[in-house]
Amino acid sequence: MHTDIAEILFDEAQLECIVNSLAERINKDYSGKTLEIIGILKGSVVFLADLIRKLEIDCTLDFITASSYGAKTVSSGKVRLDANMLPDLKNKHILLVEDILDTGSTLAGIKNIVYGKGAFSAAVCTLFNKPSRRKKPIKAEYVGTDIPDKFVVGYGLDYNDRYRNLPYVGVLKPEIYTGINKIKE
Ligand code: PRP
Repeated sequence: MHTDIAEILFDEAQLECIVNSLAERINKDYSGKTLEIIGILKGSVVFLADLIRKLEIDCTLDFITASSYGAKTVSSGKVRLDANMLPDLKNKHILLVEDILDTGSTLAGIKNIVYGKGAFSAAVCTLFNKPSRRKKPIKAEYVGTDIPDKFVVGYGLDYNDRYRNLPYVGVLKPEIYTGINKIKE
């Protein structure tokens, strides 16, 4: 285990189990349809890479960039979105893929953009959900699992862009973002 991690919340086998059950539901719900998958950069990439390889439906893959945390452990609430890479979404079924749904600010902004581009539907698939922190009325159709309000990293989730490469999801030691062991920003 990485020395900056206090405890592992989900190991590789547990994550695989969660991904498999999400993929199973998506395969069933979108059977016979074409799904436009939109990954929300950067946190979703590891989860997304595993999820799409379990999908058997007809699908395409695009990305949108969103950023709200900066070098902090809580969302700033101000979301910067870059949708330049998105294609025409008119009448398409969209699945927005997130690593974590926290205040809901990111997804609220992205849903506006996606519906503004004429999407027929825009469902949300998130690996983790922190319902206790919600500020916007966003609900995810596909939730891997609810988690407590702890700062988690790994499997794509970061602190200050670090730890995305950890194959498990763990709680970051508080001294990493406060005090003398704080990593450089
Ligand atoms: C994180 C996460 C979600 C968002 C969730 O992204 O990946 O996109 O915050 O928070 P919210 O529900 O409060 O909006 P972040 O801004 O840290 O960028 P990253 O994906 O590049 O790490």
